[in-house]
Amino acid sequence: MRLLKMDGITGIFHSVILLIAFVAVSEGRVVKVPVGPLVHVEGQAVSIRCNVSDYQGPRDQDFDWSMIQADDKSVPLVSTLGDSFMDPTVRDRVNSGDIGYKKLGDDSVELRFKKVQATDSGVYRCSTPSTDSVNSGNYQADVELKVAVSEGRVVKVPVGPLVHVEGQAVSIRCNVSDYQGPRDQDFEWSMIQAGDKSVPLVSTFDDNFTDPTVRDRVNSGDIGYKKLGDDSVELRFKKVQATDSGVYRCSTPSTDSVNSGNYQADVELKVIGDSLKVSPAIPKTKKKK
Ligand SMILES: *[C@@H]1O[C@H](CO)[C@@H](O)[C@H](O)[C@H]1NC(C)=O
Ligand SMILES: *[C@@H]1O[C@H](CO)[C@@H](O)[C@H](O)[C@H]1NC(C)=O
Ligand SMILES: *[C@@H]1O[C@H](CO)[C@@H](O)[C@H](O)[C@H]1NC(C)=O
Repeated sequence: MRLLKMDGITGIFHSVILLIAFVAVSEGRVVKVPVGPLVHVEGQAVSIRCNVSDYQGPRDQDFDWSMIQADDKSVPLVSTLGDSFMDPTVRDRVNSGDIGYKKLGDDSVELRFKKVQATDSGVYRCSTPSTDSVNSGNYQADVELKVAVSEGRVVKVPVGPLVHVEGQAVSIRCNVSDYQGPRDQDFEWSMIQAGDKSVPLVSTFDDNFTDPTVRDRVNSGDIGYKKLGDDSVELRFKKVQATDSGVYRCSTPSTDSVNSGNYQADVELKVIGDSLKVSPAIPKTKKKK
């Protein structure tokens, strides 16, 4: 390797120059955003952090966030200096809190989307107004955000079969994601009998949902549900019975403008008799799709 045979003095000289250049470059303000592209799915909450360091002037720094359009035109979004910064086209989303910021310290801020949209894809620029005696370093940093169009609603239950012993308390959780419409979602739980006949158990919104055959158990609280936030619910048995073995279906009524994705999910529950607890012989049955 001829290059390594470089004259020793010249080599050291080059290193010194490089070192000086590095020190010079690292002097002055540093504004940092994450290395992009950041990839998200429509409807997700997104936050993008921006830090500033090596600055002069007041400890508490100000920040502006803008979106940079294809023609390099900057659309002002939010600023710690006040609302006059924002572009009229984003006023509604900023006022509703869908786009906002949170100061995380003197030298750090987060741009936040409550529910990011596919049209939010683009380059985001974090800028800090200079408070330095002499401008040096960088005053802004860009990061690309890519928002994929949602594949539609997803309803999820655990992968079964769930195996429990008679008399145990059992809860089965169901989550919904990537939905449109109100944040707070409604749910129904049914038991699916042979032949796909559905026995309605509990509903978060319809008091008449419960099938007469299970009404006593629902009224006594032996079968019930608990909402765990806007997008999640648990079906609960206080004391599960052997006859509760079967397929349970969690459904969410559509609140989407265009239906896509899945609106229900099934999970099998196997309840084994107390006497079999020691060596449960669970027959393998094919899971119904
Ligand atoms: C900002 O600073 C925090 C705390 O030091 C750090 O965890 C985070 O990775 C930094 N982010 C960037 C984009 O530099
Ligand atoms: C539902 O969401 C919770 C909280 O994110 C998670 O712990 C749980 O595993 C999820 N359950 C299913 C079935 O996806
Ligand atoms: C429940 O049923 C009663 C009587 O059939 C009916 O008057 C009422 O509107 C129903 N409620 C709901 C929420 O469907």
